[in-house]
Amino acid sequence: MRHSPQALNEAGQRALLAEIRAVIAKAPLFVPTMPRSGNPMSVRMTNAGPLGWVTDKTHGYRYQATHPVTGELWPPMPQTVLDLWEALAGHPHPPEACLINYYGGAAKMGLHQDKDEEDFDAPVLSVSLGDTGIFRVGGKTRKSPTEKYELKSGDVFLLGGEDRLAYHGIDRILAGTSDLLEEGGRFNLTLRRVTKPG
Ligand code: SIN
Ligand code: FE2
Repeated sequence: MRHSPQALNEAGQRALLAEIRAVIAKAPLFVPTMPRSGNPMSVRMTNAGPLGWVTDKTHGYRYQATHPVTGELWPPMPQTVLDLWEALAGHPHPPEACLINYYGGAAKMGLHQDKDEEDFDAPVLSVSLGDTGIFRVGGKTRKSPTEKYELKSGDVFLLGGEDRLAYHGIDRILAGTSDLLEEGGRFNLTLRRVTKPG
């Protein structure tokens, strides 16, 4: 795993934010619900790129090419995140999915593994914008000891190699730590490969 603080400077953060706003204008944030229980997650979600990660009560966790509410294809991936992947992922194939999670002040994400992909050779690259998130990351079992990182606006965090399947989550958001987003809160983008390269 690797934390790259301030991989995006302020101008880069503003550029990415404008790209995210454009994605959301076409592919609105939706409320993801948990498999079986149907309980809503606390984040709001959308995607960019050929595939997007979605979840709902009936069909569970999956990747699909279309928005679950509008039925439209996901918008193209922001150039800023493609550039970050190129610079930091150390992987020869481009990402296929860019999941965009929005955390309001009270949102969090429980410890989980990213394992709905066919291909674990590629890393997962995450980009944070807005208020600081307290990121918890451990090992390959739920019981492995964990450490905490403060993910600030512009930071990139990479889970690859041995750590590709490390458990991770967001304990909480530190409200008021950034003025990048007028509405407050935090965006996190995760870039993944989903399929094995042909
Ligand atoms: C995730 O695991 O999907 C999100 C991680 C984060 O918000 O930093
Ligand atoms: Fe994750």
